Order: sequence, then structure tokens, then C-alpha cells
Amino acid sequence: MKNFPPYSRQIQQRRRTVLFMLSRARPDERVVRIGSWAAFRAQAQPIRFQVFVQEQQVPPKLELDEFDAISAHALALDPAGKPVGTGRLLPDGHIGRVAVLPPWRNAGIGARIMRALLNEARRQGLSTVELSAQCHARRFYENLGFTAVGSVYMEAGIEHIVMRMDVSAAT
Ligand SMILES: CC(C)(COP(=O)(O)OP(=O)(O)OC[C@H]1O[C@@H](n2cnc3c(N)ncnc32)[C@H](O)[C@@H]1OP(=O)(O)O)[C@@H](O)C(=O)NCCC(=O)NCCS
Repeated sequence: MKNFPPYSRQIQQRRRTVLFMLSRARPDERVVRIGSWAAFRAQAQPIRFQVFVQEQQVPPKLELDEFDAISAHALALDPAGKPVGTGRLLPDGHIGRVAVLPPWRNAGIGARIMRALLNEARRQGLSTVELSAQCHARRFYENLGFTAVGSVYMEAGIEHIVMRMDVSAAT
């Protein structure tokens, strides 16, 4: 059997626990909510700071911007009601700031956040959504139906690529 170092074992264990809790949760407990920045800021901002500023070293002054106030925000809650992930949809169809706290990754929460934002885009009558994907997450977005457009560029010291999706064709 493969030997994981202690940290990996801890992550594996947490992932199994999250998957178990999600599988046991009632449908209304597997929640990703959509709301305004005013409604979600207190819960979403700490997640974004932990993931983008602390983990990815994005300068704090770039993390919050004027688009937060006009975006629809997704907030993912674990079965106990604790906020564990977030993302946002701008009125022009740009999706961004998609983040899941490390212990809850690889349990389908990021995909749920994205599907909630895609549904919100459809609800708003948008036909196309676009995002600046960090290159490491390209597969994550491709799994959801996004296609890469153009070439790789640098933003906040991280490689990115533009990805696009026709939401009218989404499932
Ligand atoms: C990217 C991120 C939001 C994904 O959230 P998550 O909850 O771990 O994703 P999911 O569990 O829903 O993954 C869904 C699928 O995408 C894949 N995936 C997830 N993260 C990935 C990554 N970084 N690179 C490649 N594939 C990834 C998973 O393997 C899974 O595929 P599968 O269903 O075939 O097994 C999360 O890793 C994160 O917060 N990363 C740090 C912040 C970040 O980089 N955000 C993206 C900015 S563009």
C-alpha cells in the first residue's frame, strides 16, 4: 500500500469525512447559496483571504475590488453550516474568486460553486461566461465545460488563461 506522509494522510482522512458527510446530507444541507456582497462578505472574505492572500500570496490590495459590490456571490456551506467555499459572477458574465478551503478540496464543492454560478448566469439571461483560470485549475474548468481561449499570461505572479463557456448549452 502507498505510504502517505502524515500531512497527506490527514488530508485524505478529511476528504473521506467530507465525502461521507456530503453523501449523508439531506439535499437542502448540500448548500451553495447565491447572494449579494452585503449579505455574504462576512463569510466569503475570510475564505478569499485565506486562499488567495495567505496561500497564493496575492497582494491583499488586489483581493477585494469594486466588482464585489455589483457581483452575485456563491457561498458553499458544509453540512454543519460552516462556510467553506466561495466564488462570484460579475454582471458582464465574468466568474472569479473561486476558492475552497484546503481541507474541503477534492470533494466536489468547487464544482457545486461553479454550477450555482452558471445557473445564476442563466437566470440573469447571460449566454456566455468567461473567467481567467489559474493554469493549474484548467482541468477543473474543462470538466465543467469551459474551453481555453488565447494564450497563457501572468497576473499577480500566477499563470492564467482565459476560458469561456456557452451557458445556454450547459447541463
Ligand atoms: C480550484 C478549486 C476551487 C477546486 O475546488 P474543489 O472543491 O477542490 O474542486 P472539486 O472537488 O469540485 O473538483 C472537481 C474536479 O476538478 C478537479 N480539480 C480540482 N481542482 C483541480 C486543480 N487545481 N487542478 C486540476 N484539477 C482539479 C478534481 O480532480 C475533480 O475532478 P474529478 O471530478 O474528475 O475527480 C480549489 O482547488 C481551490 O480553491 N484552489 C485554490 C484557489 C484557486 O486556485 N482557485 C481557482 C482560481 S482560477
